Amino acid sequence: MLWATLPLSFFLLFAAAPCFSEDIQDQVHIVYLGEHNKKTRTIQAIEENHLSLLLSVKKSEDAARESLLYSYKNSINGFAAILSDEEAAKISEIEGVISAFPSKERVMHTTRSWEFITMEEGLSDADRESMPSRANYGRDVIVGMLDSGIWPESKSFDDKGMGPIPKKWKGVCEEGYAFNASSCNKKLIGARYYIKGYEAYYGPLNTTYSYRSPRDSDGHGTHTASTVGGRAVPGVSAIGGFAHGTASGGAPLARLAIYKVCWPIPGPNPNLENTCFDADMLAAFDDAIKDGVDVISMSIGASGTPRKYSSDSMAIGALHAAKEDIVVACSGGNSGPELGTVVNLAPWTITVGASSIDRAFPSSVALGTGKKIEGQTVTPYRLKKGKMYPLVYAGNVEVPNLPRNISGQCLPNSLAPEKVAGKVVVCFRGAGFRVGKGLEVKRAGGAAIVLGNALANGNEIAVDAHVLPGVGVSYGDAIAIMSYINSTPEPTIAIGPAATDFNVRAAPVMAAFSSRGPNRVEPDILKPDITAPGLNILAAWSGSSAPTKVDGDPRRVKYNLISGTSMSCPHVGATAALLKSLYPNWSSAAIRSAMITTATRINMEGDPITTAAGEAAGPMDYGAGHIRSSLASDPGLVYDANYTDYLLFACSSIKVQMDPTFPCPANPPPPSDLNYPSVSVTGLRAAAVKVIRTVTNVGQRKARYKVEVEEPSGVKVGITPKVLRFRKVGEKKKFVIKLTAVGKGSTAGGHVGGSYTWSDGIHAVTSPIVVTLT
Ligand SMILES: *[C@@H]1O[C@H](CO)[C@@H](O)[C@H](O)[C@H]1NC(C)=O
Ligand SMILES: *[C@@H]1O[C@H](CO)[C@@H](O)[C@H](O)[C@H]1NC(C)=O
Ligand SMILES: *[C@@H]1O[C@H](CO)[C@@H](O)[C@H](O)[C@H]1NC(C)=O
Ligand SMILES: *[C@@H]1O[C@H](CO)[C@@H](O)[C@H](O)[C@H]1NC(C)=O
Ligand SMILES: *[C@@H]1O[C@H](CO)[C@@H](O)[C@H](O)[C@H]1NC(C)=O
Repeated sequence: MLWATLPLSFFLLFAAAPCFSEDIQDQVHIVYLGEHNKKTRTIQAIEENHLSLLLSVKKSEDAARESLLYSYKNSINGFAAILSDEEAAKISEIEGVISAFPSKERVMHTTRSWEFITMEEGLSDADRESMPSRANYGRDVIVGMLDSGIWPESKSFDDKGMGPIPKKWKGVCEEGYAFNASSCNKKLIGARYYIKGYEAYYGPLNTTYSYRSPRDSDGHGTHTASTVGGRAVPGVSAIGGFAHGTASGGAPLARLAIYKVCWPIPGPNPNLENTCFDADMLAAFDDAIKDGVDVISMSIGASGTPRKYSSDSMAIGALHAAKEDIVVACSGGNSGPELGTVVNLAPWTITVGASSIDRAFPSSVALGTGKKIEGQTVTPYRLKKGKMYPLVYAGNVEVPNLPRNISGQCLPNSLAPEKVAGKVVVCFRGAGFRVGKGLEVKRAGGAAIVLGNALANGNEIAVDAHVLPGVGVSYGDAIAIMSYINSTPEPTIAIGPAATDFNVRAAPVMAAFSSRGPNRVEPDILKPDITAPGLNILAAWSGSSAPTKVDGDPRRVKYNLISGTSMSCPHVGATAALLKSLYPNWSSAAIRSAMITTATRINMEGDPITTAAGEAAGPMDYGAGHIRSSLASDPGLVYDANYTDYLLFACSSIKVQMDPTFPCPANPPPPSDLNYPSVSVTGLRAAAVKVIRTVTNVGQRKARYKVEVEEPSGVKVGITPKVLRFRKVGEKKKFVIKLTAVGKGSTAGGHVGGSYTWSDGIHAVTSPIVVTLT
C-alpha cells in the first residue's frame, strides 16, 4: 500500500507552498518505445533519440539531459526521466511512443513471519530422487535475481568444485561499498545495482543502514537467491536449532546473477521493508537480458490497482525476456485470501502462489485446569520446565487511556510493567509486527508471550523467532484461553519447548496470505499459475539483518525461516533452471507449460488441497495446483507460444501495439485463444464460447492421447477431437474446447472450476478451466 499513500502525503505536505508545487509534481516517468531497430541504431543514436523526445517537452538540451535517469539501450527501447504529468502526457502522444507512465514503488513479497526450512523438504520424495541429478543440478544455467542484493560470504554461495563460467555470460561484477570483484565467484557470476529511481524519489541513500553496492542489507535477496541456487550446506538450522538439516537451493549448481533493485524505505526502522522502483527494475531487466541469463526470478510486485501490460514495468521487462526465451518466475503477492488480489499478471510469466509444507514446530501449552493446547513456535527461549506461570490478557494490563481499537495488540509501550512483570501475556495478531509484540512483552518484563491468531488468520500459525519464550496459537485456541482467563481469578499456564515435526498432514495447504485470482488486467488469463512452498522456508540470510528484522533485535543468523510468495517464487525459478538444463532448446512457454500441466490439486493424504480455512481450494487459489518438478521434467505435451503470439494477445487484450515493427491486425484472436496451458473464460452466457489450443509433442515419438474432462458445475465442456495421434517429436495438434452454460450452476459473477486432461497412459497433461458465469 505504501506507494498508494506516500506520493499523496508527499504532495499534501508541500501543497501549501505553491512555489514548490511544480517541482513536486515532477516525478520519474518511464517512456516505453518497444523494440530497438537494430539495423540502423547505434548506442549513440538510441540515446540521441531518447534525448530528442525529451527535448520536445523540456526547455533546453541541458534540461533534457539532466532529467534523464536511464536510457534503456540493450533489449528494451525506452528511458526513465523526471517529467511532470503534463510532459509525460505530451510525450505519450508522439508517434512511436507506446506508453509513458510514472515509476512507482513495488514491494517484496515476504510476510513478516520468520522461520526456517529446507528447499528439498518442500518437494515430494519423487521430486527429490532423480530430477535435479538428471538435470545436472542446473549446471551452467544462469538465473538472474531481481531483489535486494546478496550476502556473498554465505556458504550457500561457495563455488568449490564448480566449472568455469559459461562462455555466453556477458555480465559484470559491479564494485561498490563492501563489495568488490572478489565478492563474485563461479557461483555468483555477476552482480549489479540500480538506485537512480530510488534516489530520485527518496533522496540520497542513507549509507549508515544500507550498502551502495550489490550487498544485501535486508536478507530477502540472499534468501531468494539461495532458494534458487544455493549449494547444499549441511548442519544448518534456524536460531534455536529448529529445522536442522542440509540447506540447499533447488538448482545447486546453477549460476546466480544478482540485480539489486530494492532499497530500504527511510524511517525509524529502515530495513523492515524495502521498496523497488519501476525505473530501476526496468534497467535491471534490460541488463539481465543482454547479460545472458536463462531464467529471471523476481519476488516483487506492485500493490493497488494493477496496470495494463503496456504501462507495467514488470510486464514490459518480462516481454523482452520472453522474446529471448528467458523464463520469468514471479510471486503473486501476499494479499490473500480475498479474490482479485493477485499481481504480476502477464501471460508471458509464471505467477506463483504459496502453500505450506509438511513441517510444523509444535509446542504444548497447559492451562491451570489441566487442559492442553498445541501451539507452534521457533523461539530459542524456554520457560522453566513444568512450572506454571501467572497468565494475563494484554487488554487487562495496559497503560491507562490506551485507545480501545489497539487494546490487546501489545503495540510498543502499551503494556504496564507493574502489571506484567513475571507473567505470561496473551496478545492478539492484527495491528503491528508479530515479533514486535514479543519485544513489547519483554520490555514490560513479561515472562513469555502467547500470540493468538485473529479470526482472519484462522488456523494458520505464524511461527516466530521471538526475543523471549512464547508460542503462537490458532484463533479457536486463543478464544479458549481467553475464556479460561475470564473464568478464574488466578489463571496459570505452562509452555513446553517446541520441536521440529516432519510429515505433518495435511500438506500442502494454501497459505491464507497467498493472493488470489481472478486476473484484474485480463480475466481470460488465469493467475496465479501454480503454487509452491512459501510457508516457513529456511534459506541463507544477510549478516547485517536481524532474523526478525525488527529494530532492537541485535541477533544475527546465517539462515532464517521466512514466509511469503517471495519464497515460493524461487522454487519455481529453480525448477525452471533444472528444466532449462534438461532441455536447452525449449521455449520459455514450453517450460512454463511443463510446470503448469503437471501440477497437482491433491495433497499428500490423497485429498483435495484445501485453503487455510479448511475449504477445498480451486484455480483462483492455486492456478493448476502444487508444483511437481519431477513430473514437469517429462510433461508429454506442451502448450507452446512465442513472442508474436504475445504481441497478438496484447493487440486484443489491451488493444496496444507493443512492438513498433508489428502492427496489430484488424481482427486479432481473442485473449482466451492465446495458447496458454490453462483456460479462463469470463462472462459465459447462453451462447457457447469456443477456445482453441495447440499441443506440441515432447514425449515419445509415437503417441496417442485421449482427453478426459472434469466439467465445472453448470458448464458443458466439449473437446474436439477427443483423440490426438502423434508420429514424431515436435509435431503439433490443434483442438477446440466448446463451453456452454447449462442451467444455474452458480450465481452470476461467481466462478466455477474444472479441468481437462490429455493422457497417453504415461503422461497426464492437465489444464485447469475457470468459467465466470453472467
Ligand atoms: C575485496 O574484499 C575482500 C573481502 O571483503 C578483501 O579481503 C579485499 O581486500 C578487498 N579487495 C579490494 C581490492 O578492495
Ligand atoms: C541515517 O540513518 C541513521 C540511522 O537511522 C540516522 O541516525 C541518520 O540521521 C540518517 N542520516 C541521514 C542523513 O538521514
Ligand atoms: C485506531 O483508531 C485511530 C483513531 O480512530 C486510528 O487512527 C488508528 O489507525 C486505529 N488503529 C487501528 C490499529 O485500527
Ligand atoms: C538446439 O538448438 C541448437 C541451435 O538451434 C541446435 O544446434 C541443436 O541441435 C538443438 N538441439 C536439440 C537437442 O534439438
Ligand atoms: C510463432 O508461433 C506461431 C504459431 O502460434 C507461428 O505461426 C509463428 O511462425 C511463430 N513465430 C516465430 C517467430 O517463430
